[in-house]
Amino acid sequence: MKTVVISLGGSILIPELENNRIAAYLPVLQEIAAKHRLFVVVGGGGGARDYIAIARKLGIDEGTADEIGILVTRLNATLLIAALGEAAYPKVAESHSEAKKFGESRKIVVMGGITPGQTTDAVAAVLAERVQADVFVNVTSVNGIYDKDPKSHAGAKHHKTLTPRQLLSIVSQGGLGAGSHNVLDIIAARIVERSSIPLVVLDGTRPENLSAVLLRGKGDCSIVSSTKKKVLPL
Ligand code: UTP
Repeated sequence: MKTVVISLGGSILIPELENNRIAAYLPVLQEIAAKHRLFVVVGGGGGARDYIAIARKLGIDEGTADEIGILVTRLNATLLIAALGEAAYPKVAESHSEAKKFGESRKIVVMGGITPGQTTDAVAAVLAERVQADVFVNVTSVNGIYDKDPKSHAGAKHHKTLTPRQLLSIVSQGGLGAGSHNVLDIIAARIVERSSIPLVVLDGTRPENLSAVLLRGKGDCSIVSSTKKKVLPL
């Protein structure tokens, strides 16, 4: 049994409230949790972006807009917990310590954001350190890490494997792109470097891709690791 921390971007799980992938993710998360200890950090998605845009129009400061974003991530986390039913710990963890404590239940632990000024990728990267995860997974809308934004550069090169240092250099050039979003935020990339926990980046627009990559080693992804040790399948 391994310990797995997944950053499940809101733009994947709940891009819009009516157009969400929660039902499709339930069997996938349950399959992973049947074999491994699972922690899921949920993003804000379209809901957070809508609220933040309105907050800005009202002249509300960025820190307060972040607090609103955090509330939306926790609302999304609440929805996922309720949909998972018995498989999940029944409360959204509001800190890393709480997530660690809830993990003792051996149920799926779900959390959202915690502190203004960052994203749920950074929350998940620190959680991976706190629970001594074997692997940190970032579920996004591209099939891995490229040297340039693959959506705007036809010749962008996909990295099957790369070192944390290479990841940091790509992230700091702003060359990592999925539309307007980075594949991983820079705070999370720095934490990946200091923790030496392997990071897997994969496309979650088809939910079954997550279990195929993690449990069966099938499908595209990028693996960031400082060693040559085999990471997948789990
Ligand atoms: P995310 O940016 O993590 O959401 O949080 P997301 O939906 O996963 O992002 P994408 O679209 O998939 O890439 C939404 C917002 O909540 C606030 C930030 O304002 C962030 O943009 N937030 C989240 C925080 O301030 N702190 C946190 O710890 C988490």
